[in-house]
Amino acid sequence: MKERAILLVLLLGMSACAKRAVDAPASGAAAVPSGAVLTEVSGGKQVTRIGALLDQPVVVQLNDAQGTAIPGAVLSLSGAQGVKFDPASGPTDATGQFTTLVSAPGTSGRFQLLASTTDGKVQLKVEQVALGYEQLLGRQLSNQYCVRCHDPESTPERVSNMDNLDPKPHAFTEGDTYNKFSDADLTAIIGHGGPALNKASSMPPFGFTLSPSEIQALTSYIRAISDPPYSDTTRVYASK
Ligand code: HEC
Repeated sequence: MKERAILLVLLLGMSACAKRAVDAPASGAAAVPSGAVLTEVSGGKQVTRIGALLDQPVVVQLNDAQGTAIPGAVLSLSGAQGVKFDPASGPTDATGQFTTLVSAPGTSGRFQLLASTTDGKVQLKVEQVALGYEQLLGRQLSNQYCVRCHDPESTPERVSNMDNLDPKPHAFTEGDTYNKFSDADLTAIIGHGGPALNKASSMPPFGFTLSPSEIQALTSYIRAISDPPYSDTTRVYASK
């Protein structure tokens, strides 16, 4: 009887401790050992419109140097002006992960997010793309006319045609291919088809279907999503 009472006291004591540890993350935030690493689990390189919420949350992972998750360490997120986070900081969960919803800034282009530990010693950059009005139109046209051949992935609504094509077109994100084209080259091949650049006629001409401003919108969209990013200097260098 006496033994049982002692056991009960012990158990109660243990559960009280466990509860306190969960309730008090602020003072009891886990220390981040040196050599800790932040990695991206998911949610990088998303494309959205300016000011809009990214479709997927951004999830980052904090591990120690041995690759073991660090739960309960506080992380914070920051970004360019106008980027919003929900939440902008908080503790890593039991698996060492921190999840946040991100809204794009009000200006178009690439924007970076910086995840870091409170002492700033462990950091991770995650890149996203915000599309302006013209680029959004380009994305819509691309979905309508181009992705069935230019996107290797099939979706429930659309079967990719890429496997049937030889030579194969490239995904519009493939900067290594696309950054070598000048704006004039892109306009020519989209308007007049593959032969305009001595390429296969399986790349059809769209000059009868699309207006010059729509072709411009497509080009602007392709530039916005290319990875690595497009810059005029890349092109000048590549064409030398
Ligand atoms: C019927 C399939 C098909 C459709 C639809 C299509 N393309 Fe293509 N595209 C191709 C093929 C095939 C090539 C590769 C030609 C080659 O390498 O000789 C190509 C190549 C290109 C290239 C040169 C870079 C690359 O990927 O190799 C550009 C730029 C391009 N297409 C833009 C577009 C745009 C913009 C649209 C939509 C308006 C579009 N294409 C729609 C088949 C298609």
